Amino acid sequence: DDLESLAADIQSADTVVAFTGAGISAPSGVPTFRGDDGVWEKFDEGQFTYGRFRSDPAGFWTDRVDLQRELFAEEYQPNAAHDALAAMGRDGHLEAILTQNTDGLHAKAADENAADPSENGDESGGGRTDEAAEADAEIAADDTTLLELHGNARRVRCTDCGRRRDADPIFDRAANGELPPTCDCGGVFKPDVVLFGEQLPGAVIQRARSLARESDVFLAIGSSLVVEPAASLPRQAASTGATVGIVNLESTPVDDAADLIRREDVTEVLPRLRELLETP
Ligand code: OAD
Repeated sequence: DDLESLAADIQSADTVVAFTGAGISAPSGVPTFRGDDGVWEKFDEGQFTYGRFRSDPAGFWTDRVDLQRELFAEEYQPNAAHDALAAMGRDGHLEAILTQNTDGLHAKAADENAADPSENGDESGGGRTDEAAEADAEIAADDTTLLELHGNARRVRCTDCGRRRDADPIFDRAANGELPPTCDCGGVFKPDVVLFGEQLPGAVIQRARSLARESDVFLAIGSSLVVEPAASLPRQAASTGATVGIVNLESTPVDDAADLIRREDVTEVLPRLRELLETP
């Protein structure tokens, strides 16, 4: 069937790139953003912009505490889809995972003993270089490159000194009335995620684009593919000759560029794909 031919393409490919969105974490219990049960049905997207963070950090943090409770109601665990991608990486079938998710579940799946994400990255200087931003977004997971394009919501970062902290205690402080929560240096903490109206670091987006262009197989998994760069990465891959596969419950605006579309649960398709790759 078409999944068998995709597996054959992956086996003969030099570079396979997986691009993931909230749908891959939905079976772990993490809410998605769009759709009936989506976070943006309950919360006003417009309250979580970079502009509001700058002009009204206390109001931003007040609302963000509620959003964080909704997004991370429990301690989530990777599911069979995260595990299948991690296994494909270990087996040398996957060059990179580019994720829009901020839940850290790909890193957890790749290495249950992964280093504390709050310790990843620079501790110096608020004015980061582009290269430092790229290094922050990139997490070494075996031989697979993992790029967290939208950051990691389990961390906060001081907007002055750049220091990172585990998010939970800082969110507790905000919930207890420290609005906005501040660092020892006096700087305001910001969730270590890309907010609406905030640019993705240039080096990060360039890395993602070049991986998409290099790819022989590009798999878009569990994303509505409506925000940038999600909307353009699969098209870029297709335009340079990659086989593009989309695994998503709903149709996407990029479906016309795909060679294969599976409108099925990620936890059905990815373990099956992995099985096919193991079959000689
Ligand atoms: P969305 O919530 O927009 O889309 C999730 C997609 O996953 C939907 O199209 C669902 O149909 C699909 N889906 C849900 N459960 C699934 C399952 N079990 N198997 C297969 N598909 C499933 O999430 P994203 O595309 O990730 O940005 O959203 C992109 C960005 O918009 C997010 O990173 C966030 C948001 O605003 C920032 O926070 C900067």
